[in-house]
Formats: sequence, C-alpha cells, structure tokens
Amino acid sequence: MAKLNWGMIGGGEGSQIGPAHRLGAQADGHFAFVAGALDHRPDAGRDYAQRLGIAADRAYGDWREMLEGERNRPDRVDLVTVATPNSTHFEITRAFLEAGFHVLCEKPMTMTVDEGEEIVRTARRTGRICAVNYCYSAYPMIRQARAMVRAGEVGRVRLVVTNFSHGHHGDATDADNPRVRWRYDPAMAGVSGQFADCGIHALHMASFICDDEVERLSADFASTIPSRELEDDAMVNFRMTGGTVGRLWTSSVAIGRQHGFDIQVFGETGGLRWASEQPNQLIYTPVGGRTQIIEKGEGGLHDEARRLSRVAIAHPEGFPLAVANIYCDLADAIRGEARDGLPGAESGLRSMAAVHAAVASARAGGAWVDARPPMFR
Ligand SMILES: NC(=O)c1ccc[n+]([C@@H]2O[C@H](COP(=O)([O-])OP(=O)(O)OC[C@H]3O[C@@H](n4cnc5c(N)ncnc54)[C@H](O)[C@@H]3O)[C@@H](O)[C@H]2O)c1
Repeated sequence: MAKLNWGMIGGGEGSQIGPAHRLGAQADGHFAFVAGALDHRPDAGRDYAQRLGIAADRAYGDWREMLEGERNRPDRVDLVTVATPNSTHFEITRAFLEAGFHVLCEKPMTMTVDEGEEIVRTARRTGRICAVNYCYSAYPMIRQARAMVRAGEVGRVRLVVTNFSHGHHGDATDADNPRVRWRYDPAMAGVSGQFADCGIHALHMASFICDDEVERLSADFASTIPSRELEDDAMVNFRMTGGTVGRLWTSSVAIGRQHGFDIQVFGETGGLRWASEQPNQLIYTPVGGRTQIIEKGEGGLHDEARRLSRVAIAHPEGFPLAVANIYCDLADAIRGEARDGLPGAESGLRSMAAVHAAVASARAGGAWVDARPPMFR
C-alpha cells in the first residue's frame, strides 16, 4: 500500500512533543515525512527539516509558506500535524482544513469555544478529518477498558475518578523560567493554566472510557505559587449525561508525582484502574471477586486492544506507540475506513467548553455550570 504524505508544523529541535509525532507517524509505515515548518525561527526550521531528511524545497520557514508550497503540488501532503504552541492552533488548523488538507491538531484545539465550534463546522463543511491528539486514549489498555465498559463488564458506571498531577512546576525558585512562566500567563496560555494543559487529557479520558459526555461541572482553582495568575492546581467535580459522577484533580505542584496520570472507573459490578506510568496493565476487580491484572498482549483481550498492541506480552510499548495508534487510525480514516475512537474536532470543542466552564465556575466560588458547548446543548 502506498505511503501517505505527511507534514508537521512546530515540533522543532528540542521541542517536547515533536519526537513523539515523528516516531508515531512513521512507526507503521503509513506516512512518509515529506514537508515541515518546524520552528518559529525560519532558518532553524529549514535546517532541522533537512537534517531529518526533508527535501530543501519542502523544508519551509513558516506555516503560510508551507500552505502555499503544498497547496498545488500533485504529491502534496495528505495530513498536516499542528504541534505549535496553543495560541496558534486555531489559525493554522482552520487554514489547512480550508485548503483541503486533513489535520491532526495538538491539544488544546483552540483557545475559545467559538473557535472550537468554527473548527467543527469547517471540518464538516470541507469533509476533511480534523483529529485532536488525545493520545492517551490510544493506549491498548485504555481501549480494553472502554470495550469492557461497553460490553457491560463492570455494569453501569457510578463513578469515575481521575488525576493528572505532576510536580514539575512546583519549584518556586524556577517559576520565572520562561519555559514555565508562559503557562500561567493569560496572554500566552489563555484563560486556564494546568486544567487546560493536563486536566483536559483526564477529562477526555473519563468521557472516552465511560462512552459518555461531561454535562456540568463545579471547579476549584488555586495558584499555589502566588506570582502565577492562572491556576497551577484544580479540583473539578462533574456529572456525565448518563448520570456518572466524576472527580478530577490536576496539579503541576504535586512534587513527588512524576507523570501522574491515572483513572479509576467504579461500576455497579466491578472496577477498573489504569495509570500512565504502568500503561501495559489494567487492573480489574469484579464485585465480590479477586483483583486481576489484565496485560497488554495476553489472550482474550477485546478486539480494539488487540488491534493496537504491537509487541509481545510484557514488552513495553509506551507513549510514542500510543501516538502511533492515533496515526494508524488516521491513515485508515484517510483511506476511507472510519475508526471508532479517533478523537475528532468535537472532542477538542468539548474540552474547550469544559475549560471555559471550569474557569467560570471557579470564579463563581464553585457554582455548578453547564459544560457543554452551545452547539451540543
Ligand atoms: N498530546 C500530548 O500529550 C502533548 C504533550 C506535550 C505537548 N502537547 C502540546 O503540543 C504543543 C507543543 O508543545 P511542546 O511542549 O512541544 O512545545 P515546545 O515549546 O517544546 O515546542 C514548540 C515547537 O513549536 C515551534 N513553533 C512555535 N511557533 C511556531 C510557528 N508559528 N510555526 C512553526 N513552529 C513553531 C517551536 O520552535 C518549537 O519547536 C502544545 O500545544 C502542547 O499543549 C501535547
């Protein structure tokens, strides 16, 4: 099968997420990396792209140049990944969708709910795929958890509890480091700091596994380092459409926690537990029964978990291959085989509505507010 052509914007040398996209896109041979505008410094971006094997005429200095350069090529890119800082996602994603390209956008998809709705409408009107990189949902054991919930193996879900709390911004003496400071500055980060950065992964995961949507929420935000305008810690209570009760804690000052993303699902007949630091294992406890460890790669897994497992049982796969699973599903979708579970623009929009709802709630002392985008009410 011929490879699809792939390009990336952002993800330059030394960036955090760039390597995961390069590994993920190319892991299964679906995509050839043929174009890029990788850095906010044009020369650095061109130079790095060429060192990664991109031809000089497709190593672009900025995204507008890439849009013009690719637009009319017979071998133009099939998919563009947007891995730039948050405030640029909307403009770049919309421009590429309008020009007829499929897009994988990093989270958060936009800065406002209006922008999110515009991306959803643009994707629908142009018929292009706009996916959002909620890559944790593509771990095989998360697909297993979702399939178990769907199959009724834990009964109706009463409660979902999730944390995405790390301690990497907990050093007050490092708070003025520019790589840290912008995340808590509204001019750069928007209305929310930690919740928009990490909390939305956890909220998406809760919706994904429970196969349900967040309907309303109540939030408590704190800036535990006083110089920070935006929150570095948040507790969010929520309710899902089907009645599930949700609890979410996200923090960047939880010193001692490393990646710190975990989720527990409590159903009427069983419970599930998963942690990103042990992603190959899903812990399952049937009511009244023994706790069991379900391992990636073992027999008897649900089809989705089996499909997205690569290497034998007990061999780690990890984050880049979870990203690769997103690219596999994208490749299938581009070739015409829709994949259930690929996070789309609707998920990006729901996250943005939840972020703005959480900010409104926190400002109103934790009042319960509608968390759905106006478009889906
Ligand atoms: N899905 C995930 O798990 C995950 C993890 C980390 C980061 N992210 C997201 O990825 C995005 C990038 O985060 P990061 O941590 O890699 O940031 P980073 O600051 O480490 O890197 C950003 C890169 O984008 C480049 N860039 C900036 N503006 C650009 C522009 N206008 N055109 C082209 N390139 C430009 C920079 O030069 C740099 O190479 C953010 O939106 C972040 O939220 C997602």
